[in-house]
Amino acid sequence: MHEERYINSEIIPILEERDVVICRQACREWARRIGFNLVDQTRITTAASELARNIHEYAGAGEVIIQEVEDETRRGIKITFQDQGPGLDDVEEAMKEGYTSHKGMGMGLPGSKKLMDEFYIQSEPEKGTSVTIYKWLPI
Ligand SMILES: Nc1ncnc2c1ncn2[C@@H]1O[C@H](COP(=O)(O)OP(=O)(O)OP(=O)(O)O)[C@@H](O)[C@H]1O
Ligand SMILES: [Mg+2]
Repeated sequence: MHEERYINSEIIPILEERDVVICRQACREWARRIGFNLVDQTRITTAASELARNIHEYAGAGEVIIQEVEDETRRGIKITFQDQGPGLDDVEEAMKEGYTSHKGMGMGLPGSKKLMDEFYIQSEPEKGTSVTIYKWLPI
C-alpha cells in the first residue's frame, strides 16, 4: 500500500435513483478538474456510474466519497462506494464477467475493474459492501 494524502473530497449520498446521475456528473467534474483527459474522464465516469447503480439496486442506499489523492510520486482520483446493504456471499464469483444475481449483464464489477488502475472490494453478508477504485494521472 502507498502512503497517500488527500487534497480535496466530496461525499455524495445515494438515496434514490437520480443520485446515480448526480454521482456520475460529480465524478466527471472531479476527473476533469484533476486533469484527466476525455478518455480517462469517461472511464472513471462509467465505472463510478456502475458502482453507484449497484448501491442503488442492491443495497438501496449508501454513499460515494470522491477524493483527489496524491502519494510520493503521483496524483489521481480515488472513489469509494460504501453501503450497509445485504453484502455479497461470494465476492470472487461476483467479480466474474456475466455473473448476476438479478437480471443484469453481470458486467458492472468486472467492467469497472478493467477501466480503473486499482480496484478493491470488501464485503460481508448482512454488513455491507465497500468498493474502492483509483486512477492515476499519467506521469
Ligand atoms: N453493493 C452491492 N451490494 C450487494 N450485492 C452487490 C452489490 N454490488 C454488486 N452486487 C452483486 O454482485 C452481482 C454482480 O454485480 P455487477 O454489477 O457485476 O452485475 P449486475 O449488477 O448484476 O449487472 P450489470 O451491472 O451488468 O447490469 C450483482 O448481481 C449483485 O448480486
Ligand atoms: Mg451492476
